[in-house]
Amino acid sequence: MTSIKFYQDILEQEISKLKIPEYPSHLYQPIKYILSLGGKRLRPVLTLMTCDIFNKEVSKAIPAALAVELFHNFSLIHDDIMDEAPLRRGKQTVHEKWNVNTGILSGDAMLILAYQFFEKYEPETFRRLAILFSKTALEVCEGQQLDMDFETQDQVTLEAYIHMITFKTAVLLAAAMKMGAIVANASAADQDNIYEFGKNLGIAFQLQDDYLDVFGNPETFGKQIGGDIIENKKTYLFLKALKNATDKQKIILQKNISKNYSAEEKIQTITNIYKETGADKATLDAINNYTNLAFTTLDKVGITDEKKKMLKELGKGLMQRAV
Ligand code: IPE
Ligand code: IPE
Ligand code: MG
Ligand code: MG
Ligand code: MG
Repeated sequence: MTSIKFYQDILEQEISKLKIPEYPSHLYQPIKYILSLGGKRLRPVLTLMTCDIFNKEVSKAIPAALAVELFHNFSLIHDDIMDEAPLRRGKQTVHEKWNVNTGILSGDAMLILAYQFFEKYEPETFRRLAILFSKTALEVCEGQQLDMDFETQDQVTLEAYIHMITFKTAVLLAAAMKMGAIVANASAADQDNIYEFGKNLGIAFQLQDDYLDVFGNPETFGKQIGGDIIENKKTYLFLKALKNATDKQKIILQKNISKNYSAEEKIQTITNIYKETGADKATLDAINNYTNLAFTTLDKVGITDEKKKMLKELGKGLMQRAV
């Protein structure tokens, strides 16, 4: 196993080689655009890395890794429409640069392109990958629907929130790893355990994303700071703040304050409440806890201590991320 950069370089090369048609340009240009904006390539890195960890040539996992990254980018295009987000990876979102209809259809096409990568595998591997991928994709849809439902719900429990982020985000990281394990023909137990590792890491990853949405550096984060506050997202920050809030703070959190405040004032006011209630620190603690939970699952995976150490380094690195 090697550094993350090693896998990222393979992926950048493979993505630049993708043959995406020219015509109709309004269907395919947005796909090329979003892929060209980069991003961390975390999920396909996990696929390649897991295949490597289970002792199969990395090249065998490339189609599965590309499928995961295309699916992820498709979900981002649609997510940005749903979240009315102006910025992605420091650039205009697809629906802003083109329009919503273009975002919908280019996203659909990207999902189909993702599935086509599985055609590169033999029937049994194809079947296993497709079953996992379809299950995961449906869960992502469920998570995304809950995320939107919660925008207008006052009574969202922390358990419901964890379920929502598990589905919208964590299962894709989990599946990305399991796909690497499937390609490598790892044992069923190892496949399941690496999935659990990826899932807990994924929960920590989304908690961190929520945190950065408010407290990230606008210069480097690449997305609009405070977007979740504007959209009334029920994030861990919000739910923890509500739990610890004074009556006065509760009223501010629960009322849809956008009516009386500008977007800037709303972000400022709610960010202050997140700090005053200690919701910021509680979120950092939760990120730590889920990352450590991931590390405990790792104990069950049948790989050398050296490989476990590399996966732990990856988990620790994610906790330090600014993007
Ligand atoms: C963004 O994912 C969507 C979430 C699930 C939080 P990433 O933070 O991995 O986005 P990129 O691909 O690096 O841009
Ligand atoms: C996104 O969650 C999850 C999916 C894209 C499926 P967010 O809405 O928090 O992701 P960002 O912050 O826009 O990247
Ligand atoms: Mg979003
Ligand atoms: Mg969203
Ligand atoms: Mg987010």
